[in-house]
Amino acid sequence: MMQAGLTALDQLLHSRYSCRGFLPDPVPEDVLRQIVIAAGRAPSWCNAQPWKVTLTRGAETQRFRTALLETVSAEPPAPDLPWPEQYTGVHQDRRRACGHQLYEAAGIARDDHAARKDQTMRNFSFFDAPHVAIISSGRELGPYGAMDCGGFVTAFMLAATALGVASIAQASVAAYPQLIRRHFDLSEDRLILCAISLGYADADHPANTFRTARADLGDIYDPRG
Ligand SMILES: Cc1cc2nc3c(=O)[nH]c(=O)nc-3n(C[C@H](O)[C@H](O)[C@H](O)COP(=O)(O)O)c2cc1C
Repeated sequence: MMQAGLTALDQLLHSRYSCRGFLPDPVPEDVLRQIVIAAGRAPSWCNAQPWKVTLTRGAETQRFRTALLETVSAEPPAPDLPWPEQYTGVHQDRRRACGHQLYEAAGIARDDHAARKDQTMRNFSFFDAPHVAIISSGRELGPYGAMDCGGFVTAFMLAATALGVASIAQASVAAYPQLIRRHFDLSEDRLILCAISLGYADADHPANTFRTARADLGDIYDPRG
């Protein structure tokens, strides 16, 4: 039998999912603050806490959405962190599986390239979320700073789930770091890692009707001795 503490955490871990269809209702300020405070309990090397959350609300979300959509249509992606070189083997299998699930849920045929592109473009309107958070790290801390921020992102999304707020991490948005730094007046020493769109889930949205699978224990666990 699982201990009570783990049951609560396990329930949160299982109920979180990447939301790709939000209602317009804003999240109250105190709830946004609670999410950030909770996520800030994430561990980091030397307790450097390299994360910073730039979080939009109201008209600012729309201003950023407009600026991002303009940039995406005019400029090639140029992320601060290099994108994965390739996906092979199980990585490719898992990537394909979650892509197929999304397209199937959204009713997009395999060869409907226009509809696939439209779905991808929804990233840049934040899936209609009323808020988007930009997660940045201190550039001088390099990959370990980014690793610390990964823990922060997970804690952020779990805290949001605990408070009934849906979210999705988005590397796609971070492909335009120059615009992001300019738009939010962030200095060059902030590395732009990802965005997190957040708000209340539109539970009936087709893109929210599937859940991704996970590898079996034997595929990720390598006990020795
Ligand atoms: C760092 C990171 C970046 C991601 N970037 C995107 C993205 O740009 N667009 C998107 O639709 N999903 C993105 N995702 C969501 C993943 O596709 C999703 O977490 C994965 O398929 C597992 O599904 P789940 O979150 O519903 O459990 C990202 C997730 C992470 C952790």
